[in-house]
Amino acid sequence: MTPSTPGTPGTPTPGTPGTSAPGTGAPGTPGAAGAQLTGTASPSPVCVGEARPVDTDAFLALIAAATPNDPLPPILGQILSFQPGRPRRPLSHGDMLCLVARDTAGRPVGALLGGVPKWVFEHPLCAGTVLPPKLRERVSTIHAVVVDPAHRGRGIAGKLIRAAERRLWQAGYQLLTLEHPATLTPFYEKLGYLSDEELIMMLPGADLLELEAEGLLLAVKPLSNEVKMVTVPGAPARIVSGILPGCHVSATMRFHNGRLTS
Ligand SMILES: CC(C)(COP(=O)(O)OP(=O)(O)OC[C@H]1O[C@@H](n2cnc3c(N)ncnc32)[C@H](O)[C@@H]1OP(=O)(O)O)[C@@H](O)C(=O)NCCC(=O)NCCS
Repeated sequence: MTPSTPGTPGTPTPGTPGTSAPGTGAPGTPGAAGAQLTGTASPSPVCVGEARPVDTDAFLALIAAATPNDPLPPILGQILSFQPGRPRRPLSHGDMLCLVARDTAGRPVGALLGGVPKWVFEHPLCAGTVLPPKLRERVSTIHAVVVDPAHRGRGIAGKLIRAAERRLWQAGYQLLTLEHPATLTPFYEKLGYLSDEELIMMLPGADLLELEAEGLLLAVKPLSNEVKMVTVPGAPARIVSGILPGCHVSATMRFHNGRLTS
């Protein structure tokens, strides 16, 4: 997919009002709300970049610590052993985004793993249809973001997340999602995410894809002006509008018996 060109009419530019959720900064923009995160410790001079083969063990250990109940797919180690290269940018490893935050000595002290959400292939409204190839180039998810306990509270997670948003935006992605415990709602709100118990997305034919994450909240951030989070009377959560052509929620729509009606 061709990345959106900054400055092209009708396309999102980081910093353009309306590019992201109200009251928040655009993806990765200096001065975005997330940049104001403050911790008790002093800011850490880390550098965020793609995970390299030499980072494999540290990357896997960090991500595994963040997802103790969710064993890492063995293929992740193999993927990381490939040198990220220019042809794959702005993502680092095929469809996946593997970022690390390095301290001044070059040691990884934080990691972020992004990629295509599983539901794109597995949800009954998507599996076996023409939708997965279309959605996989528009929707991405942060599977895990983690910072070494000794380095927390210094804005490192914020830096990793904004770097991911910037790369995904450059790659033409329109929506970023993630799951998080309710305790982290203020953290993600500051970064411009909207959290709900459900994620509802309008698909072709006004079908509504509804997702829940057991014991967690689902957070979303539009990366494009095309995509909006719309409040619809009667709906249990805001609805993602505009993720595919013809899938815009109109002002006259109402939510009734699990469907949108005009
Ligand atoms: C969550 C995590 C990634 C934050 O990393 P970090 O580099 O310390 O985050 P930042 O410095 O960018 O932001 C710190 C802010 O997050 C808040 N925060 C971090 N962890 C929190 C928690 N468990 N509960 C509530 N708030 C938390 C801090 O209070 C701080 O808020 P403030 O700016 O209002 O003071 C880190 O605590 C971590 O690795 N946790 C374990 C893995 C995890 O839970 N990952 C997220 C899964 S969705």
